[in-house]
Amino acid sequence: MGTSDGLSAALADEVRRRVFEEPGFMRLTQVARYGGRVSRLSFRPVELKTGRALQMETGDAGRIIVSNLDDAAAHAAVEEVILQPGARELHVQTATADLHIRVTHKGRELVSRSKPLAREAEEALPHDRVKQQPLTDFDSGPLLKALEIADADGRIKASMRGKYDQVNAFLRILDTTVTGGDEVADDDEIVIADCGCGKAYITFAAYFYLTHARKRSVKVRGIDRNVELITAARRLAADLGVNEEVRFVAGELADSTLDLRPNLTISLHACDTATDEALARAVEWKCPRILCAPCCQHELNKGLAGGGAMKAVLRHGILRERLADLLTDTFRAQLLRILGYRVKIMEFVSHDATAKNLLLRAEYGVAPGQGDAVAEYRALRDLWQAAPWLEKRLGESVSRFL
Ligand SMILES: C[S@@+](CC[C@H](N)C(=O)[O-])C[C@H]1O[C@@H](n2cnc3c(N)ncnc32)[C@H](O)[C@@H]1O
Repeated sequence: MGTSDGLSAALADEVRRRVFEEPGFMRLTQVARYGGRVSRLSFRPVELKTGRALQMETGDAGRIIVSNLDDAAAHAAVEEVILQPGARELHVQTATADLHIRVTHKGRELVSRSKPLAREAEEALPHDRVKQQPLTDFDSGPLLKALEIADADGRIKASMRGKYDQVNAFLRILDTTVTGGDEVADDDEIVIADCGCGKAYITFAAYFYLTHARKRSVKVRGIDRNVELITAARRLAADLGVNEEVRFVAGELADSTLDLRPNLTISLHACDTATDEALARAVEWKCPRILCAPCCQHELNKGLAGGGAMKAVLRHGILRERLADLLTDTFRAQLLRILGYRVKIMEFVSHDATAKNLLLRAEYGVAPGQGDAVAEYRALRDLWQAAPWLEKRLGESVSRFL
């Protein structure tokens, strides 16, 4: 049971120990709800020029405030959290374990502890977040304000925090994709097609990051069927002085033509089969690299059958939906493998930033029609009696291997 002075003594000690004494402290997060308002507070270690400190980030009433605390201030701030009364959730992450505490309205403490973990040491000892984020590797202030991710004072709006994290996470993977490997040589121009670019957050962020932080020569083309969004994106490109390099096409992904052949196709949360369309266009463009974060997926769900034991899963709407999502992405990955891409599916950003956090990363580089890729694809398709939309869309280019 918690006390009116905060956590019970034993839990308070455990929190202090995990934050200040055990090696590998990564993050302490507290989420409290007052009426309809959510207040977040988090601490993480950072390496500053002056030495190690604890960075505190508070989010309340639409504002994010970040401050770096020296040792005394850090102890005082964590003590304040420990002593805070009222319902809330606390999560302490270290390299070796997670501690979850939920304090109920009645003051009960519900505690869970993870099994011992072995996280990457790097994650446990992060450098200053300011140095870590791609969007802080260059002067991104004007861009973030123009995209309305930051307010007029340059502060990230609380409502846009998830988008900010998503963009940073995407840029990190973009960076390794562009700088690692040899399909796009270091001095080659990077030509990006952003399929289903919407408000063009990634379109502009990719351009500015790669030109300003990486000093690369870059051209980006955004495609979207929403004419209003494309008009606004064009205006933004002009305002930012990049309307030659960053251009937009209003139209369907299926039949839009580009003035350049992309060597990197990206797509972030293009809806349903638009993700498949983005992949199909990348294949048609013979694009050597693809980064694609799928969105909602309904197509496969409609036709998903599968007899015998599978019936038990398909009976439940939510299980069926999740299964359809997983299968859709598996089919996509397999079809790309069949066509000669090496494919990796990863979580590109934390689940807190977006529930749609899977990213499919594909790099061309093996002979198409590999026997194992074909066999795995057919076995899965037959098991679920599925008719993947992308297979039909790719037509002869893939059917000759099946
Ligand atoms: C969820 S939004 C994502 C926008 C942007 N990529 C982002 O992450 O902020 C999906 C976008 O895809 C566009 N879209 C969906 N299907 C499309 C299609 N078949 N052709 C062109 N654009 C499409 C929509 O108009 C919408 O702007």
